[in-house]
Amino acid sequence: MAIIMDGNGRWAQKRGLPRVEGHRRGALKAERVVEWAAELGIKYVTLYAFSTENWKRPKEEVEYLFSLLVTLLRKKLKKMLEQGVRLRFTGAIDELPGSVANFCHECEEKTKQNDRIHAILALNYGGRREIVDAINKAIQNGVTRVDEDRFRDWLYLPDVPDPDLVIRTSGEMRISNFLLWQIAYSELYFTKVLWPDFTKQEFLKAIEDYEKRQRRFGGL
Ligand code: IPE
Ligand code: IPE
Ligand code: MG
Repeated sequence: MAIIMDGNGRWAQKRGLPRVEGHRRGALKAERVVEWAAELGIKYVTLYAFSTENWKRPKEEVEYLFSLLVTLLRKKLKKMLEQGVRLRFTGAIDELPGSVANFCHECEEKTKQNDRIHAILALNYGGRREIVDAINKAIQNGVTRVDEDRFRDWLYLPDVPDPDLVIRTSGEMRISNFLLWQIAYSELYFTKVLWPDFTKQEFLKAIEDYEKRQRRFGGL
């Protein structure tokens, strides 16, 4: 499963709160969603936390987002270890400020033995960027020709299966440069609920909706 966690800013604005308060509440919700997914036996959940386009936001908001990430993960790392969560990252991680990148590697290292659920945070992630990075990596390794399977090997996390379901909150009906290669045949679910308001009931509703769909993958 993959989730575009959108609507934090609007959630805060509606309440007369600063946007960053929406991000704080949104981050707590992300943690819950990983628990809900693990309870259901979902093996991989990818959460879109910061896109390559989100650098366009005011510097203060961007800085807050990264400090929130580090603070919250630091606080929750022990709990995640106990719960069997393997924390991973996807995106141009090494272009994040040094301390953030190091911290991401540290979280991956510390949780790498876990396998109840892979919680993957998409950070400084862009789908086009991932594809271009993959092509450049392949060229640097002397590859002159790829096919679809071998191309996948150059993506950030080749072992992570394509999402069956992509959920986007906040009513926007777009992909915003998320997992472009991987969602070729994913089912899409959009809800108007703003991310900090997302509930377990909403989560289950999305899965129920998904279960009713008939996936044909181009066949009959
Ligand atoms: C999603 O919420 C979180 C990030 C993109 C970091 P937004 O911050 O995009 O919230 P809205 O869309 O402005 O309401
Ligand atoms: C997508 O949300 C990115 C994340 C949720 C991290 P945005 O709020 O950045 O997307 P747009 O700008 O509405 O397309
Ligand atoms: Mg948004």
